[in-house]
Amino acid sequence: MGRVYNFSAGPAVLPEEVLKSAAEEMLDYNGTGMSVMEMSHRSKAFEEIITTAEADLRELMNIPDNYKVLFLQGGASQQFAMIPMNLMKNKVADYIVTGQWAKKAASEAAKYGKVNKIASSEDRTFSYIPDCSDLPISEDADYVYICENNTIYGTKFKELPNTKGKTLVADVSSCFLSEPVDVTKYGVIYGGVQKNIGPAGMVIVIIREDLITEDVLPGTPTMLTYKTHADAKSLYNTPPAYGIYICGKVFKWLKAMGGLEAMKARNEKKAKLLYDFLDESKLFKGTVEKKDRSLMNVPFVTGDADLDAKFVKEAKAAGLENLKGHRSVGGMRASIYNAMPYEGVEALVTFMKKFEEENL
Ligand SMILES: Cc1ncc(COP(=O)(O)O)c(C=O)c1O
Repeated sequence: MGRVYNFSAGPAVLPEEVLKSAAEEMLDYNGTGMSVMEMSHRSKAFEEIITTAEADLRELMNIPDNYKVLFLQGGASQQFAMIPMNLMKNKVADYIVTGQWAKKAASEAAKYGKVNKIASSEDRTFSYIPDCSDLPISEDADYVYICENNTIYGTKFKELPNTKGKTLVADVSSCFLSEPVDVTKYGVIYGGVQKNIGPAGMVIVIIREDLITEDVLPGTPTMLTYKTHADAKSLYNTPPAYGIYICGKVFKWLKAMGGLEAMKARNEKKAKLLYDFLDESKLFKGTVEKKDRSLMNVPFVTGDADLDAKFVKEAKAAGLENLKGHRSVGGMRASIYNAMPYEGVEALVTFMKKFEEENL
């Protein structure tokens, strides 16, 4: 069997060129006679891999010099604790709750201090992004937290919240590198890489230098202190070396594709194809308020759970995999990350049209 179109929300599709190149280098990386998996993280070869990966990411995102880039383990969920442990100097933080991941992050932070939920879209199953232009930001808040793209619900902040001068912290796991961002607007940008960048098992944290201090909550483990990793250039202990190597290849791929402006145009074109079809379909319908639609995760339903299940099953048989919606919302979800080609979305829409004709 050949490769399928994989619409998984994560771990997710990676660029074929990257996988092929990694396969070619599997037994002998660049004349070292070993795989990157087998190599010391203190070796010259690996030093070059991690330094190049960081430099390429800095170039892609135009990351200013006063921000550190950290390649860490523990996935995005570990940041739910690491952020309050490192940033809650006043033990107060404001959370905007637009989905399960922001909710989980807020509950975790509540273990360490006072969490104010200053806005939420839970009243309508997280199908929209609340107006965040004039929220009751807490005077003593150490930071304001958002999940910028809500993987499960398919919403995205098109405009960042007005934090009234407070540090913005954003989980960008499912929109990482999908379009240009202005890094200076954030104190911390972080994301698990297993959606848009690389293999599971690592998280990238981009953090402004003044937020990296020794003044962390008492009892914060060494491994969960940003300063540990910033001082050691992500080599305090054995890093997720193979993951960093694959991410580095994806950064090179993104540069060759024309960078984040080009990715944005490509992602908009792909998403438009699917959303336009959903808007005209008599069987399928998108579940998200139009203005807040994500370019990366597209949930949709027929309104009939049995028909949804039939669709997912028949789509799989047609080589369109992982279209089942998240267990908390049901229906379908197509994740169309950077590495999903336009042809993949075309194949999905063609299949949906056929399914509609047969089942309406
Ligand atoms: C937006 C978002 N945040 C956090 C997570 C959790 O990531 P991890 O499994 O790396 O902890 C996910 C998905 O898995 C996600 O989509």
